[in-house]
Amino acid sequence: MKNLSQWSSNLGFILASAGSAIGLGAVWKFPYMAGNYGGGAFLFIFIIFTLLVGLPLLLSEFILGRHGKTYSTNIFGKVSGKKSFNIIGWLGNITVFVLFSFYSVIGGWIILYIIRTLLDIVGLTHSHNYGLIFTDYIANPLYAMASQFAFILFTVFIVSKGVEKGIEKASKIMMPLLFISFVIIIIRSITLDGALEGIEYFLKPKVSDLSSEGVLYALGQSFFALSLGTCGMMTYASYLDKKTNIVKSANAIVWMNILVSVAAGLAIFPAIFAFGLEPNQGPGLLFIILPQVFDQMFLGQLFYLLFLVLFLFAAITSSISLLELNISNITKNDNKNRKKWSYIIGSLVFIFGIPSALSNGLLQHFTFGVGSFFDNMDFLVSNILMPIGAFGVTIFVGHIFNKDTIMKELNLSNTRLGRSFVDTWYFLVKFVLPIIIIAVFIGQLL
Ligand code: PHE
Repeated sequence: MKNLSQWSSNLGFILASAGSAIGLGAVWKFPYMAGNYGGGAFLFIFIIFTLLVGLPLLLSEFILGRHGKTYSTNIFGKVSGKKSFNIIGWLGNITVFVLFSFYSVIGGWIILYIIRTLLDIVGLTHSHNYGLIFTDYIANPLYAMASQFAFILFTVFIVSKGVEKGIEKASKIMMPLLFISFVIIIIRSITLDGALEGIEYFLKPKVSDLSSEGVLYALGQSFFALSLGTCGMMTYASYLDKKTNIVKSANAIVWMNILVSVAAGLAIFPAIFAFGLEPNQGPGLLFIILPQVFDQMFLGQLFYLLFLVLFLFAAITSSISLLELNISNITKNDNKNRKKWSYIIGSLVFIFGIPSALSNGLLQHFTFGVGSFFDNMDFLVSNILMPIGAFGVTIFVGHIFNKDTIMKELNLSNTRLGRSFVDTWYFLVKFVLPIIIIAVFIGQLL
């Protein structure tokens, strides 16, 4: 059986890493984070973090992955001779495990909405109050768990077969389609009566809206959306050959990710204000707002169905990379036991994810820390584990890893522009990134 052991082409690698990056993070999580933490102010700081912290980090993971060419709990020791640094890889494995456990809950919601929309189309149900459907469906423990299970099973099936190549090909069509469907939604959304207020809310940063909490969440969001701090991108780069221009690839992925996040915001915020709703509705935001936008369109239900399928696809290309990371480490890239382990890890993720699935229903009132069990898992991953993982990578690449090797990996033309790019990047990774990550942490404590 063929693993992802090498990519079929440069494009294959870009598509797979973009597939890992672009998913629930940009489409579902970004708008609700922006809605909770000040709209435009959040967007602004998110873009700054994505370019200033995310891009250099992504490049670091690519360099290390391609150079080390092994699974992430081995790579740090292999390239530096200092085995203790493999702990960064171990941490990443815990991070993706927890991440998958609540990611699959939202993936399940998409499946539920697909079923519901199908039932609407054939006339078996008639949805009108979307806020209510959301609570009805999502709060139902059986629905929530069954759909989460289906999403995990879907992912397990693909990873166990190692059919990522097929997914890679499908991305070529599905990703552009997802983007086009956003353009359609945006046009509808911004032409609704009263949309202007929403556009302003989302695009005009008001500094007074920014809290230290918002800054922490924005940093976490930039990691989450780019799959950073888990060594996931490093793993994908370890299947890469020398020819690929990783600088260009990293740039492309970062900008695509920003574009999709902004598109999601532009699709949702104008509609929120036009419908007279509140932007801070939490994780349900997208699921409550979008059907109402489609409702205002010709053949809206059909378009909505199409959108949901594309959205599910984007989520699956990300969940594949989550599971792939665990599997590549457990099997040490040996495909013999890939199938068995995919099912075992998938089952464990499901069991661990049950309280998250029930967080909007049965366990709604079981709150601690930052909120429900689900909220706490998300907080743990995005605002604690990912930043720690990212911190580890910057320290490793900036202070432990050999600089000459890095320069060779980057292989940029020896022009002035090339040299100043490398110097800036290295300076950022060595000094600026660790300081920013720590400062945001301390800011939160204060
Ligand atoms: N970036 C993915 C998303 O936004 C989530 C992810 C995080 C995937 C970490 C892999 C590793 O949906």
